[in-house]
Amino acid sequence: MLLDARVQAIVDELTQRIKGDGERLRAGADRYSDDMVQAAGPDAAGFLNLLIRAKDARLIVEVGTSVGYTALYMGDAARATGGRVIGTEVIEKKHAQAVEYLRRAGLDGIVEVHRGDARDVILALDAGSIDIAFLDAQKSDYCEQFDLLLPRMKVGGCIVGDNITYPERIKEMMQRYQAHVRAVLNVRSHYLSVGSGLELSVRIA
Ligand SMILES: C[S@@+](CC[C@H](N)C(=O)[O-])C[C@H]1O[C@@H](n2cnc3c(N)ncnc32)[C@H](O)[C@@H]1O
Repeated sequence: MLLDARVQAIVDELTQRIKGDGERLRAGADRYSDDMVQAAGPDAAGFLNLLIRAKDARLIVEVGTSVGYTALYMGDAARATGGRVIGTEVIEKKHAQAVEYLRRAGLDGIVEVHRGDARDVILALDAGSIDIAFLDAQKSDYCEQFDLLLPRMKVGGCIVGDNITYPERIKEMMQRYQAHVRAVLNVRSHYLSVGSGLELSVRIA
């Protein structure tokens, strides 16, 4: 995907960190360490970039920003649409890194990362205001966060949930999430084989 040069430079830096994380994991490091980048990867991030452009999205919300990998891709697209991204990260160290990476990428005026529980950020948003939301924090919180987001989505707005098929150990929890969103009357939802598996849910009324 063609990204702005400053954004690409930071994505490249993070890609090197992710390779290092992979080596540390293979050597037995804790996958949940605050030092891990934990990114959705280029396929999911590229898809989100294009979705923002295709929908001419103005308000994008990310639930779980970590150090900002997908936020970089989303910010790149939001700059093109005249939109903004609200990220959320509960871990102070990761939040600080995300803010710094986004500043170095020239996206500090486009992506604002809130430190704390995404729930508080979602609750403060107006009904019918969000174009795209990306769910990528605690998987056990997806259903609750989806329910909080839905009334705040525009009609036609998209909620994208990550990790539907990978990692394998959370498969049942993700199946429960899919069943949950597919049972909602004013939502149409479909699985996309992109990255670690995405569930794309559209508010239709
Ligand atoms: C998988 S990582 C996010 C990766 C990021 N979306 C990317 O692809 O670059 C999940 C992050 O969500 C954060 N998190 C977990 N629960 C949260 C919550 N309730 N509110 C905000 N962030 C949360 C974790 O600290 C972690 O850094």
